[in-house]
Amino acid sequence: MDKILVLDFGGQYDQLIARRVRGFHVYAEIKPYDKITTEEIRRAGYRGAIFTGGPNSVYGDGAPRCDRQILSLGIPVLGICYGHQLMAYLAGGTVAPAASGSEYGKTKLRVKDSALFRGVPEESVCWMSHTDAVTELPPGFAAIAASEKCACAAMEDETGRLFGVQFHPEVTHTEQGGQILRNFLFEICHCRTDWQMDDFITSAVEHCRRTLSGKSVLLALSGGVDSAVAAVLLQKAIGDRLTCVFVDHGLLRKGEGDFVEKTFGGTFGIRLIRLNAGARFLEKLQGVREPEQKRKIIGAEFIRVFEEEARKLGKPDVLAQGTIYPDVIESGKGDSAVIKSHHNVGGLPERMAFEQIVEPLRDLFKDEVRQIGQKLGLPAALVYRQPFPGPGLGVRIIGEITAQKVALLQEADAIFRAELEAEGEHLADQYFAVLTDTDSVGVMGDARTYGATVALRAVCTDDFMTAAWSRIPYDVLERVSSRITNEVPGIVRVVYDITSKPPATVEWE
Ligand code: XMP
Repeated sequence: MDKILVLDFGGQYDQLIARRVRGFHVYAEIKPYDKITTEEIRRAGYRGAIFTGGPNSVYGDGAPRCDRQILSLGIPVLGICYGHQLMAYLAGGTVAPAASGSEYGKTKLRVKDSALFRGVPEESVCWMSHTDAVTELPPGFAAIAASEKCACAAMEDETGRLFGVQFHPEVTHTEQGGQILRNFLFEICHCRTDWQMDDFITSAVEHCRRTLSGKSVLLALSGGVDSAVAAVLLQKAIGDRLTCVFVDHGLLRKGEGDFVEKTFGGTFGIRLIRLNAGARFLEKLQGVREPEQKRKIIGAEFIRVFEEEARKLGKPDVLAQGTIYPDVIESGKGDSAVIKSHHNVGGLPERMAFEQIVEPLRDLFKDEVRQIGQKLGLPAALVYRQPFPGPGLGVRIIGEITAQKVALLQEADAIFRAELEAEGEHLADQYFAVLTDTDSVGVMGDARTYGATVALRAVCTDDFMTAAWSRIPYDVLERVSSRITNEVPGIVRVVYDITSKPPATVEWE
């Protein structure tokens, strides 16, 4: 199989580069710059190499540098950002703080004729993030692109094998980024498109089988796509040595607990333990109104229930988790402000000392995990499930949580979801009902009623970091409102949330 080496110099986007290469059905292997020798690179038979970006300056103390001989192996190399500067430095050019200042964000790019830019218009927008720049080209190199502030936004050597770009072709803000990477892979490295998701499944299963030989593995199944795909992969690898524990905290959506049990225990025959712990959670939440406190109680109780079960099972050797790559990046940002303390099963190992942790999806992005889920035969309802917060309906019931309120919200939410899904058209990326703590007056059959107010929330978003409220057609909203007030006794009013994020968050708590 043709493969590309992604030589990692500590950039934020190393996985994204690999993901883009995989998107073109070419296998990409990420290696830290100091964990592979030039000889190993030569022997591995890579079709090409990509040097990633990184936070350093090439002349800085301890700057990550690789052997300059890599540039003479005859395999094409594409340096990105720091990788571009490093290539210039290694090949005898000069890198310095850009005289005209750093460039950050969307930047106009003008390209010249080069195999790297085949099919790329002369002028387009790229995404830059740099302070240093290549100020003097190495011998035998020529500049092949420029931006307003950067005369060497890209370079190529006379052999047509070495290329550097100051901008980031791997991010979607670079309009022609896909075309540029495609040119590198196919016009320059002459890769074949012979990598498929099936190859990932085969090698992940094989890897787990080898590394988990004879060991017992415990996985906390949440019902979300990540832990679900991890469970099915692991079951393929080690069968009955995998036990999945599904903690039903009683704050799930209508029918969800049964669906998870039926899918995993039934269809896939996975050894599944469902713990119906709703009463325990409600007891702990009694009288609690403050959102952060609710989140913390639910998270802590979740760990307690899980730990108790692990102990009963005689503490399995390995903890398995459905961690995916964006979780890895997010958890690395230790200094960002806490808006909400997220509760995920990913928070488990801090408290639980397992001999080993296995995370088979750690290098993948959400859409790749979905592709695998589909290939493994998971139901579409699960594979394309919208995100659901760990604390569940606990953060969608404003004020104190009671069993009656959970039941009311489950009914209203099920109606909203069913009506939106019946539309066939994709109206929102996440949609749910919230039970407010505002009671209000209504009238029904000439009599006064007094009951709860439900808010409907539906948002359109790419990444859930920002979101717009969905423009759901009025007649759909009308149908939902009418059904909820008619079919769910106790709810007399339905309102629609028209706040974007920011300033609001997606969830109400
Ligand atoms: P917010 O409310 O922060 O939500 O705008 C952004 C996205 O994150 C989901 N969310 C959570 N997911 N554990 C999770 O796994 C949590 O504690 C949690 N809180 C919010 C939310 O549903 C939305 O998709």
